[in-house]
Amino acid sequence: MDPVYENAAYNHSTAEFRGDSTQQKGLTLRKRSKVLLIVLSVSVVIAVGGLCLLGVLYLNIRGHFESLNAQHEMLLMQLSAQEINNTDYKEQLETLNNQYKESLRKLRRLDDLIRSHSCEPCADGWTAYDGNCYFFSCEMQTWFDSNLTCGALDAHLVIIETEKEQVFLRSKIKDPHWIGLNDLDTEGRWVWVNNQTLEETGVEFWQKRASGQGEPDNWKEEDPSGENCAYLGAVNSELVDFSECSEFFFNRQSPVIPGILEKSDSQNNNYQTICQKYDGMYRFATLYDTTHRIPVFSAYKVTADVWNSETSVWMEEPKLELPSDEMGMPYENQATDEDYIDNNLNVNRGHLFPSCHSGDKVISRSTYTLTNTVPQKKSFNSGSWNRMEMETIMLMTKNCHDSEDQNKVLAHVLTGAVPGNNKLNERVNIPSFMWMTFCCYNISSQSWISQAYWAPNQDENEADDVTINEITLQELQILLDEEWVNGVQLFYSNCNKEVIFHWN
Ligand SMILES: *[C@@H]1O[C@H](CO)[C@@H](O)[C@H](O)[C@H]1NC(C)=O
Ligand SMILES: *[C@@H]1O[C@H](CO)[C@@H](O)[C@H](O)[C@H]1NC(C)=O
Ligand SMILES: *[C@@H]1O[C@H](CO)[C@@H](O)[C@H](O)[C@H]1NC(C)=O
Ligand SMILES: *[C@@H]1O[C@H](CO)[C@@H](O)[C@H](O)[C@H]1NC(C)=O
Repeated sequence: MDPVYENAAYNHSTAEFRGDSTQQKGLTLRKRSKVLLIVLSVSVVIAVGGLCLLGVLYLNIRGHFESLNAQHEMLLMQLSAQEINNTDYKEQLETLNNQYKESLRKLRRLDDLIRSHSCEPCADGWTAYDGNCYFFSCEMQTWFDSNLTCGALDAHLVIIETEKEQVFLRSKIKDPHWIGLNDLDTEGRWVWVNNQTLEETGVEFWQKRASGQGEPDNWKEEDPSGENCAYLGAVNSELVDFSECSEFFFNRQSPVIPGILEKSDSQNNNYQTICQKYDGMYRFATLYDTTHRIPVFSAYKVTADVWNSETSVWMEEPKLELPSDEMGMPYENQATDEDYIDNNLNVNRGHLFPSCHSGDKVISRSTYTLTNTVPQKKSFNSGSWNRMEMETIMLMTKNCHDSEDQNKVLAHVLTGAVPGNNKLNERVNIPSFMWMTFCCYNISSQSWISQAYWAPNQDENEADDVTINEITLQELQILLDEEWVNGVQLFYSNCNKEVIFHWN
């Protein structure tokens, strides 16, 4: 560093003093010592400066450290203060919480007070009657969920104390509703949700089933241990003979199944005729086999307006299955519903009256009942059977006209199942075959026509694209003779009758 410095200074001087040669030497010498001195002093200054710098740095860092230290101590102090504050806050929070709860209690008391003095004694959506508030839920739930829902609303499932109360409740509901009565703890010992026994309250159920018995009747048709929960409400389906809902049968006459179904009535205690009521009206008819716990057939009408047949056929997404544990159904209870869940047999609910054959949303909903349901192989249900259902609805809406009203589509359909040898959960029979047939007036050929379909209830390979071949009504009856009961006559006069036209 130094030599470079020196040369530079020298050269510099040289350049400055050019042209004055006499003074140049002495000057140069002096300059050198000066240079040295300067250099030396500069070095000294540099050295001293370095020391100073170090000193300054040291002081700086020390100062910094001290301030850090002070800050640290401050923080420590603050922290302990904060901790004290924290416990403070906790206490404050608790006090606030208690105040809040107290206010809530006061508010509720006020609310009650206001209600007891106003014309609207119950909250929105609740119905007042005789000093109580009632809520009629439209949501389909199990008894257990209903019980919990009520609890969450600070209420409980209804406890019926008088006949008057029951009459009021019945007048308010269309569909069955759970009540706060069960014999979950001890079979046959009916207890209200407030732990009072049925005997203690002295309440009797004045609403009777078709059998003449009212709730709690410990319905045993499905679950051998009997029903465990009680409901109140319109019985959805009625165990009346088919003459009550003859409109669903061709020429108002139900099929003849020797020994089982004759003259529109069951001939055997193991078979029940059900007129399927939903939303206050009969929607279709079912012959139910209580031994096998599956329907024998469902009978229904396909209807639509001729000019609008394509759009008026109402279709429901098959995935949108409604919960079918509507408790009004005489043969339904949770156990049965559960029978269709978690099975290893690749079956699901096959609806004999499929929702895609129903004319509107309400009828469609009515088909989601277990008495219209058989365990059907999943791949068959969504495969060939589904394709057949879709094709037949097209066919019927295109060809079948009401012989008494040319502007209407009308076809009478029967869909059934033949019991098989296997059971679902050792309780519900898995049918071996399923069949369908329809009878209607073909407006083009001006004649009564019928068609039938028959298929085994077995797994199918989607890739095979299985088709169910169309057969004649007579062929179907022969198959039923062979596989099930002799002498079955599905439609009156094999789907034939005199036609009287009404042209207007
Ligand atoms: C502790 O809380 C009091 C108020 O309760 C407040 O004035 C004080 O600054 C808080 N102290 C700290 C360290 O947060
Ligand atoms: C009914 O609901 C209440 C809560 O509201 C609950 O304590 C009780 O255990 C429930 N009863 C049954 C049988 O699930
Ligand atoms: C009913 O009795 C059970 C025990 O048997 C008890 O846990 C429950 O709290 C009681 N419920 C009422 C509403 O008294
Ligand atoms: C209805 O009659 C027409 C004309 O004879 C015929 O083409 C059609 O296939 C018939 N429909 C059915 C479903 O039999």
